[in-house]
Parts: sequence; C-alpha cells; structure tokens
Amino acid sequence: MQKLEVFGANKLKGQIKISGSKNASLPILAATLLSDKKIYLRNLPKVKDIETMIYLLKSLGSKIKFEKKKLIINNLNQNKKFASYNLVKTMRAGILVLGPLLAKFGYAKVSLPGGCAIGTRPIDIHLKALSKLGVRYKIIDGYVHASAPEGLKGSKISFSKISVGATENLIIAASLAKGATILKNCAIEPEIKDLVNFLIKLGCNIEWISKRTIKIVGVSSVRQTSYSVMFDRIEAGTYLIAAAVTEGNLKIKNIIPNIIKTEIKTLKKIGVKIIVKKKEIQVVGNKKIKSLNIKTAPYPGFPTDLQAQIMVLLCKANSRSSIKENIFENRFMHVAELNRMGAQISIDGNKVVVEGNINFASAELMATDLRASVSLILAALTAKGKSTINRIYHLDRGYENIEKKLQKVGAKIRRIT
Ligand code: EPZ
Repeated sequence: MQKLEVFGANKLKGQIKISGSKNASLPILAATLLSDKKIYLRNLPKVKDIETMIYLLKSLGSKIKFEKKKLIINNLNQNKKFASYNLVKTMRAGILVLGPLLAKFGYAKVSLPGGCAIGTRPIDIHLKALSKLGVRYKIIDGYVHASAPEGLKGSKISFSKISVGATENLIIAASLAKGATILKNCAIEPEIKDLVNFLIKLGCNIEWISKRTIKIVGVSSVRQTSYSVMFDRIEAGTYLIAAAVTEGNLKIKNIIPNIIKTEIKTLKKIGVKIIVKKKEIQVVGNKKIKSLNIKTAPYPGFPTDLQAQIMVLLCKANSRSSIKENIFENRFMHVAELNRMGAQISIDGNKVVVEGNINFASAELMATDLRASVSLILAALTAKGKSTINRIYHLDRGYENIEKKLQKVGAKIRRIT
C-alpha cells in the first residue's frame, strides 16, 4: 500500500500546468465505441481511471496504443458486448459503455456500477431513458442485460433529475438511433459539452436547442477523427484552493477561466486575491479569509467535486461557515479526518457547519474517496510537522502526478511505497 508524507507548513509558489479532464476523457473514450474507424485522442490525463477505461475498451475488443502523446483507438474489429464487474466496480463511469454498445450492436451486458464511499450510485435514470429509445433490459446477478432487437429509435425524453452520466449515456446512444431524439433537463457540465464537440467531429448530428435541451438526429455511420480533451476544471479548482489555503502565490496555466467562473467568484467572496488572464489564473493567498455559506449544485453551480477542498479553506475563515451537499448522499467522509487534524466541523444530514480560525495539526490520515483524499493533502500542507496519508490509490484515480506538481511549487511531499 502506498502512502504520502507531507511536511508542512509551507506556502505554494510558482506555476502549475493543468492536465486533461478525467471526466471529459471517460465519456469520450466510451463514445469511441460508436466508430469502426481510427480515432486519435490527445491530452488524456495519466490517471488510474483512464487506464481502467482503456482496459475496459480493450476487453471489448478495441485495439489501443499510445504513440507520441496520442492515444490511437481502432475499433474496426471491436465486437464484444460484455463489460465485466471487476473493471466497472472500480470505476463507475464504466456504465458509459452501455449506450454506445446498444447503439452499435443492439445488445450489451454491463455490470451495475455498484456503490462507493460517496453514495449508492444508482443508474435508474440511465435505464429509464434508454427504454424510451426502445431498449429492453433485465438486471440479473448484478448485470444489466439490455437489448434493442429493432435497433434504437429516436424519442422525446425528459430526465426526472439532472444526471451527468445519464445525459452522457443517452447523447451517445441517440447518436446512432433511427430518427431524432430530444433530451430535456440535461446536465450541462463542461465535460458534456466536450463530449458533444467530440461527437460532432466524429460526424454526429447534435445541437443544443436551449440551456438544458439537446437534439440528436441519428446518423448511420461516423468518420475517423482526432480530438484534444479539455482541461480538468476540478484539478484547476483544487490548486486554486491549495494556493489560497497555504497563503501562497500560484499561477494555474492551461485553463479557460470562463469555465470556472463560479469557483473564481466563490474564492473572491472568501477574500482570495485572484488575477484572471486569458489562459491562466494567479492566486495570491492572504490571511484574511472570510466565512461563506456554500451549497453544491449541478453546473454552473458550485461543483460537488470541490466541496471537500473548499471545506478545508473555510476552516481558515475568520468565523463560522456552512456547506450543503445537494448532489451525493454521503460525501462527508473527509470530515472525520479533518476533525482529527483539529478542525471543528459538525454534520447535520447533508449539511455541515465549519468553525473558522482553525490551525490544522499534522496527523496520520486515511483517504476514503478521490476528492476527500486531496482535501487531506491541502490541510496537511498547512499543518506544522509530518502528516501521513494512507490509501492514496483513491488519489491516483483522478490527479496526475500530484506530488510532482506540488513539489515543483515548494510543497514538501513524498510518496512512500
Ligand atoms: C459524474 O458522476 C462525475 N463522474 C462525478 O465526479 C461528479 O461528482 C458527478 O458527475 C456530479 O457532478 C464522472 O463524470 C466520471 P450524476 P455521475 O449522475 O455521472 C444520482 C469525481 O470525483 N443518480 O450526475 O455518477 C446520483 O446518485 C466524480 O470525479 C440517480 O439517482 O453523477 C447522484 O446522487 C465523483 N440515478 C446524483 O444523481 C441515476 O441513474 C448525481 O449523479 C444517476 C444518478
């Protein structure tokens, strides 16, 4: 088991280049199953979840190789329709192969994603919407057995709840369906826009007809293409908060500031000095952090994937704050660990109250999920002495070279194997 040792406290100074987006790469990789031509993808982050998705595609018969910073995917002879539990259980986004497999073959057997630390991760919204396209499914022994004997047929669908994954699965599935599909109440995360841009480059016929409504007219085949994935806005937000909480001075490069407007506005409200340039943001941390009441929401609201990180910053505020988690039912696993470092955070259902004026003490810590684990690093960077973070495989799922990126800007952090 690997772990990270962090020796605090020090201010982060310098610049960090943001990697490609994990949450844009995963649906785009799944969508390559629609094609029987070669596809070239660039700017994929080197993180565990991407490796797992590549294994999953290979297990379905994709031929994949990595050459000169490009992933080359050839699905010419891809013909398997079975996505196994041992791959889908570690990476819930594996369920995103369901839509493309049904679109291409009219049949798929895909493992249910299973729950994780932050919630049960159901897929009822995916399945209900797919059945509107003519898919019939049964759940047997933890697998979805889905089929559309007459192929997928376009339809009008309104999602009962905003779901990133369900929106992605349906956009991909509808791309090869017969006729037009209208999807209402869609999630509009930037990663979904990136997926749509990729599908349009592939030759799909897709257009947004209003804020949360999209129209997809099925095509009979798609073409060869190359695509470069967008930047990871959650990684960017994480490093912005890292600069603020360590009262450092960091330039975050390779980003599109307009995409993280809410995060920038929130940090400014908290009193963080932010200088926004065309493709970079500079954060100049300071001592005067103000309290704030935050609630997570679907994009363009404050992202649930930054909830643990902003909680650490609010511990440094000059008075009490609150955070309401509206997306996942159990996303406070980091609270107990932060309290062991001296934080005073109390949980009441899906809301926490965060006392300010905290100085974190170093400690031996346990990571529980991807974003919780990075919040422990942020707290450890401000704590005097040595903190150890165990189970960092959670971290490696979504942050590329995190200790190298932090070392480069002055953090005393090392991986112990
Ligand atoms: C995506 O998960 C992201 N993962 C998550 O990031 C992110 O936190 C989440 O969207 C919300 O923004 C990827 O993109 C790979 P949802 P997803 O469907 O698609 C419930 C990270 O840290 N729901 O929008 O699973 C669900 O339980 C990860 O990178 C149903 O009830 O999220 C949740 O409470 C963590 N039925 C809420 O909706 C369904 O059929 C939002 O889920 C689907 C979802």
